[in-house]
Amino acid sequence: MSWAESTDEHFCLTLGTECSKMLRCPLRAGSVFPVKSQSQTSAYPVQLRRTMSSAAMVVEGPIITEQESEVRRERSSYPGLPAVLVVDDDREMCELAEAGLTQRGYAVTWKMSPREALELLDHEDFAVLLVDIHMDGMGGLDLCRAALAKRPDLVAVVMTGFGTMDHAIGAMRAGAYDFITKPVSMDALALTIDRAACYRAMSDELRRLRRRVDTHELPNVIGSSGPMRRVADVVGRVAGTTTNVLITGESGTGKELVARALHERSGRRGPFLAINCAAVPENLLESELFGHARGAFTDARSARTGLLAEADQGTLFLDEIGELPLGMQPKILRALQERKVRPLGSTQEVSFDVRIVAATNRDLEQEVSEKRFREDLFYRINVVRIDVPPLRVRGNDVLVLAQYFLERAATRSNKNVNRLGRLVADRLVNYDWPGNVRELENCMERAVALASFDEITLEDLPVKLREYRATEVEATGDDPKDLPPMHVVEERYIRKVLAAVSGNKTLAAKVLGFDRRTLYRKLERQA
Ligand SMILES: Nc1ncnc2c1ncn2[C@@H]1O[C@H](COP(=O)(O)OP(=O)(O)OP(=O)(O)O)[C@@H](O)[C@H]1O
Ligand SMILES: [Mg+2]
Repeated sequence: MSWAESTDEHFCLTLGTECSKMLRCPLRAGSVFPVKSQSQTSAYPVQLRRTMSSAAMVVEGPIITEQESEVRRERSSYPGLPAVLVVDDDREMCELAEAGLTQRGYAVTWKMSPREALELLDHEDFAVLLVDIHMDGMGGLDLCRAALAKRPDLVAVVMTGFGTMDHAIGAMRAGAYDFITKPVSMDALALTIDRAACYRAMSDELRRLRRRVDTHELPNVIGSSGPMRRVADVVGRVAGTTTNVLITGESGTGKELVARALHERSGRRGPFLAINCAAVPENLLESELFGHARGAFTDARSARTGLLAEADQGTLFLDEIGELPLGMQPKILRALQERKVRPLGSTQEVSFDVRIVAATNRDLEQEVSEKRFREDLFYRINVVRIDVPPLRVRGNDVLVLAQYFLERAATRSNKNVNRLGRLVADRLVNYDWPGNVRELENCMERAVALASFDEITLEDLPVKLREYRATEVEATGDDPKDLPPMHVVEERYIRKVLAAVSGNKTLAAKVLGFDRRTLYRKLERQA
């Protein structure tokens, strides 16, 4: 908090971020209050005054004492002010509330008609709604309910008749935060509105913090490295939408886990259903997805609902979409476009509301250019793309994941193994993990099963890891026994380049001097 500016007539008080946080009041960081010299006596925001002495304890700079100063403000010039909507069919009350609350630092709008107030809420947000319980047309409690249905964050205060407990209870039942009895004194009103505005500011802050935490953590997805935080960030941003999402990444990186986290975050009411397009034979795929009527084909003894209809209001995960037979692609495209399916052998179409999340470890653009995947379907599913990074670019996430898998395996097998040896940790961080998280998961399960102590040692790791040497060592080694054959060096070098370009195969091919097809072939051979 500091005196930002002073003129002959008044000083300007600016709230700093720390101060505004600590005040936990509706006055935001950066708010500027022109106040007349300290000898003047008048009101400045009650909340600010009340909290000023505690603010002064931790914030450097000039302090406002208990003297009062006048806030001179123009509503339009303070866009961050807490906004209050007053609704009362008594014009005098509206004007009084406006005068008193404006003087105390609020941006006040008033309406005498509940309907007009509701219309206003369609396009304007307010921190606090102050509403009279008795009004012509729509009563205050009904207005309160309707307003909260439109704007659940609104904090409502109801003005009730004196001594009418029923009204107060009714107000609370209608979702009001507080009530105030008429006739209303300006000080009591200001106090009530201060409390309501504070409550709103705190709920906003809580929501903001929760969103921040939420965007950086995905359910069941372990890892907080930069590349994984970026994944979580995109998931957080698209989860609440109905946009189709394509998840790409090498085998075992956690694509399905991310798809499930996306569904959990989405808040969609329906189920998460998954189908592996590579595992279901082409002749069954259609009936799996679209369903079939009884007798539609020889084995169809009873009707069956397809996954698209079953996943209604939920998410359908099309795993290994790159393997989808060409013949099925136009059928799926049509279903996704029209949001309707016709089960095999049926004349009726069924509508569905399903979020499609597809995954592949193939380079779908390459598949499109080689005419193995339809371009129109590719664009339909690739609205937002989430690239799950390979494990080798996630830094210390490897150790966090290893410890997690270790503890899980130890609990399951009832063994007293609880930590990684130092050499093991070094090896895990340096290894290039071609099988990604799945390989690490298997490696730790195996290590726990073999462990003879409470610590995992190099001996407990698979030969591949025990004998692994980083590429740099191979390039400088001079003992013929330690020098690996060319294809191994190439394999590791390709992985190193891929890691450096965060798995972008087009870029990797450029760096390596291969065309993408060659790179693809080599990767498939390695897998
Ligand atoms: N970040 C993570 N935290 C915890 N477990 C993970 C994580 N990522 C992957 N796993 C685990 O690794 C295994 C492989 O994950 P998943 O099946 O989601 O990978 P995928 O990318 O779909 O693999 P594929 O390409 O072979 O289908 C699963 O057992 C999963 O639970
Ligand atoms: Mg998978």
